[in-house]
Amino acid sequence: MFKILLYCFFLFFPFSSTYAEIDLDLGEEINELCAGCHGEYGEGGKKGEYPRLAGLPAAYIIQQLKLFKDEKRKNMPMRPYANEREMPDEDIPSVAAFLSQIKLTSEMPEFDETVSAYNKLLIAKKVFNIAKVEGDIELGEELYVDDCQLCHGKLGKGKDDSDTPPLAGQYTQYMVKQIKSFAAGERWHEYAEALFSEMEEDEIQAIMAYLSIMD
Ligand code: HEC
Ligand code: HEC
Repeated sequence: MFKILLYCFFLFFPFSSTYAEIDLDLGEEINELCAGCHGEYGEGGKKGEYPRLAGLPAAYIIQQLKLFKDEKRKNMPMRPYANEREMPDEDIPSVAAFLSQIKLTSEMPEFDETVSAYNKLLIAKKVFNIAKVEGDIELGEELYVDDCQLCHGKLGKGKDDSDTPPLAGQYTQYMVKQIKSFAAGERWHEYAEALFSEMEEDEIQAIMAYLSIMD
């Protein structure tokens, strides 16, 4: 028996040590700083002035935090948080893992009478919906399928554990701002010139309308 246990230990030890740098408690602690803008559950706020972080792929969050730190992605509000003193590199995987595992739902579940008012309130905080956007949904679908779907996925969910973020479930106003900064070359995006530089206002709106019904 002991031999088997020992064997299991060596079998699993390499895996556990690979993830040793991720500390969800530390991530939760760091998130208290982020919550002032991005919300307690990473739900974002102010109609998308602060993007949603909950459920984004950890690898994407890590990459963005590094870009903010190196000032390759420039943003004044993030500056006091994404710097070496406030956010050493070794803390980044923990806060990214913490945010990535938060699940928001789009519907309020049905409660039975055993659920306390307080717990209902806590659950309600995790209910998150993107408001429907006015726009030509058919055109939006066409543009999305042709130009975006390959990377951002059929359902707009991005790719788990990659640097490709979901678009469905992200704030409209925030995404429009990002698309404009891709078009202006202020933020990097693959093939930005081909994808965004000639995109008309009503085309952006149409893609947003299509994404808002996928949420
Ligand atoms: C003072 C407000 C503020 C605080 C506090 C803050 N952020 Fe942000 N954060 C922003 C804003 C504003 C943006 C959007 C920048 C833009 O418009 O490009 C942002 C963007 C981000 C993004 C990019 C999201 C995406 O979809 O690309 C990540 C990741 C992020 N913040 C993580 C964090 C983490 C982790 C913390 C805590 C350590 C934090 N932020 C604290 C304001 C803040
Ligand atoms: C070749 C793959 C690819 C294609 C095609 C693509 N994207 Fe992206 N997109 C990405 C990646 C990767 C990122 C993350 C960029 C980074 O590292 O900062 C991204 C980021 C974004 C963001 C920022 C999300 C956030 O949370 O900050 C928006 C908005 C976006 N893309 C919209 C679009 C739209 C709209 C289209 C179609 C017109 C499109 N993308 C086509 C790969 C792609």
